Amino acid sequence: MNEIINQPEFVKNDVDLQLLNTMACPSVAQFFCTILNVEQLKLAFEWAKQNNLNTHILGEGSNLLLANKIAGLVINIKITGLVINQSNQEHCIITIGAGENWHNSVIKLSEKNLNGLENLSFIPGSVGASPVQNIGAYGVEVGDLIQSVEYFDPQTNTVTQIKNTNCDFSYRDSIFKSGELQQVVILTVTFKLSNKFDPVNTYAGLPKEVSTSKNWIEYIGKIRWSKLPNPIDVPNAGSFFKNPIVTKHEFKQIKQQHNNIVSFDLGDNVKIPAAWLIDQLGFKGQINSDGIGCYKNQALVLVNTKKQSRDKILDKAIEIQKSVKQHFNIKLEIEPQLLG
Ligand code: FAD
Ligand code: EPU
Repeated sequence: MNEIINQPEFVKNDVDLQLLNTMACPSVAQFFCTILNVEQLKLAFEWAKQNNLNTHILGEGSNLLLANKIAGLVINIKITGLVINQSNQEHCIITIGAGENWHNSVIKLSEKNLNGLENLSFIPGSVGASPVQNIGAYGVEVGDLIQSVEYFDPQTNTVTQIKNTNCDFSYRDSIFKSGELQQVVILTVTFKLSNKFDPVNTYAGLPKEVSTSKNWIEYIGKIRWSKLPNPIDVPNAGSFFKNPIVTKHEFKQIKQQHNNIVSFDLGDNVKIPAAWLIDQLGFKGQINSDGIGCYKNQALVLVNTKKQSRDKILDKAIEIQKSVKQHFNIKLEIEPQLLG
């Protein structure tokens, strides 16, 4: 390995990341830094380039599977701030720093009577990661409320703003996750929120009427934590697989074999709950000797109770994928991203 030169003081060596990922995978970063502003971010990239090091972006680690050893520089984004840019009688435009905690931001906004994100409350993670996989829950996706995203592109060393319509938001995907902006660092996210509280209540099980956004958020918290394990108690990364989307034609063929299959109509396509497929195959609540398995209240969540390494989790995931493929002829795609 070449000698490392000009290492800035804010870059640390051999940093333990087990407490920085909700799956609690044991992981050590060769180099690690916490970034508070764009100037520091530029310095970090400049230094990584000078030393030929790979770079990896880390938010709050709630949608990641970390390698045991991560070569290169892990850049943890902690850029803060919440600014109200414009308001009229109906809407407000708000810009939030990428390093702000997502749920705390939703609560702050709701307290200011800025509405629209309530159904996404309690989703772990940072504001900056929210556009990456276009976080969604209970009938709302963050892309519905985002006006624009500001990012730093390490290839050109520039800061740019991209409008919502160019972010290619779709189910658990965006230009930042699988498109041409995978290498950029999100600095701020700008939302267009409503001054009127008018919750989206179309998701099955949500009440038709609730008086205040505070009560609504409490309700969302109750249904969320009745199904999902809190990573503080049980290490997990939320849904481990995406819900597969198949064409109507494909669905007809699957239904011929599995008449009781649960599905959601999307117009031309059909969404099949991966939790149902996994549940049918008897995986729910089955935890193996490594402490890895499908959560007892939600089959789609893989738990890592003994804080094992990513490889062991992926072994279990492959076993589930194979079983679903064999039985239903459906391919399950892993939702969390691999880092390192
Ligand atoms: P990380 O896990 O740190 O990173 C995720 C990805 O985003 C990585 O590729 C990383 O490189 C990239 N990234 C992070 N920050 C930036 C940045 N500033 N710029 C560029 N790239 C960046 N997700 C849902 O959509 N809906 C849910 O209902 C939901 N429920 C969950 C429940 C639980 C219990 C858990 C543990 C997870 C859940 N998730 C859910 C997944 C997760 O909370 C979200 O994906 C969240 O947005 C991840 O944020 P993070 O800061 O932890 O990102
Ligand atoms: N189901 C089962 N067994 C289970 C759980 C669910 O059969 O153990 C079936 C039921 O038929 C149920 C259906 O699956 O109606 C859907 O279940 P649920 O409403 O719990 O939602 P999900 O499709 O499993 C998705 C998201 C979650 C999000 C919730 C609420 C994905 C991959 N997951 O889960 O997001 O919070 O809806 O909107 O789209 C995440 O992405 O990490 C995540 C947690």
